[in-house]
Amino acid sequence: MCRVAGRNGRYLCTESNKVDEPFKVEEAETVDAPPPPTEKLLVLGGNGFVGSHICREALNRGVAVASLSRSGRSKLHDSWANSVTWYQGNLLEPESLKDALSGVTAVISCVGGFGSNAYMYKINGTANINAIRVASEQGVKRFVYISAADFGVANYLLQGYYEGKRAAETELLTKFPYGGVILRPGFIYGTRTVGSMKIPLGVIGSPMEMVLQHAKPLTQIPLVGPLFTTPVNVTAVSKVAVRAATDPVFPPGIVDVHGILRYTQQKSR
Ligand SMILES: NC(=O)c1ccc[n+]([C@@H]2O[C@H](COP(=O)([O-])OP(=O)(O)OC[C@H]3O[C@@H](n4cnc5c(N)ncnc54)[C@H](OP(=O)(O)O)[C@@H]3O)[C@@H](O)[C@H]2O)c1
Repeated sequence: MCRVAGRNGRYLCTESNKVDEPFKVEEAETVDAPPPPTEKLLVLGGNGFVGSHICREALNRGVAVASLSRSGRSKLHDSWANSVTWYQGNLLEPESLKDALSGVTAVISCVGGFGSNAYMYKINGTANINAIRVASEQGVKRFVYISAADFGVANYLLQGYYEGKRAAETELLTKFPYGGVILRPGFIYGTRTVGSMKIPLGVIGSPMEMVLQHAKPLTQIPLVGPLFTTPVNVTAVSKVAVRAATDPVFPPGIVDVHGILRYTQQKSR
């Protein structure tokens, strides 16, 4: 009898008395095992609100993490930040990304922001399009982009923001047809670090999430519906982003708020 315990505790038979019997796979299942140590993740904007939670989530899962932003590590004092390799660079100067991309298997971009329409297009669109192109040229396998949900009438007020987001999404789906994942959260709540202060945005977001996740029909009202988009916790966004970047069978394409909540609930089951 030849029995070897598999990683998931099952027994696998490695020999057979019947020499001609073909090898049969009886069932396949996805295993929530940590990714292999060869995995290296680059978080663009890892010193920001969402980016810092993503860095922490990836480190907790045993992934090697680097981050690039204009200010590098910035003012982050938390101890987890010592385990990240910090690079200073600007996505609007694509050459400045090349060192940080060395040996990287997956990228998550959290770069985005608000300002004039021209600035919003540049930072949400052009900057990310540059990153997607350089990453694809350097042979990165998976690229996750933190985009944003549609806000209906508000899209007109933030035209540069949404046009930039959608342009970056199109580029991602073109350059990473098999490993490109777009997350489209609405309002993201959690603890945001501003200087030495920690601001608990969950005070507003958490009760809204409870109410609105059961009110999906409201989101289908033309024009104003998207304003009822359920807020999501930054931890949920981080977990899904890291999983999408490291799980080779995570399906490419767009994950909306309800998708983000579904993936998170699946994991905690
Ligand atoms: N927060 C929300 O409620 C929410 C909701 C939906 C979608 N999103 C999206 O999620 C993403 C992250 O949001 P956030 O709230 O975490 O924003 P954030 O805190 O402002 O972080 C933005 C990050 O981008 C970096 N960055 C900006 N311009 C850059 C450039 N030219 N080159 C390199 N790095 C640059 C910033 O660092 P430096 O300043 O040091 O460069 C910072 O680390 C954004 O794309 C945002 O649109 C956020």
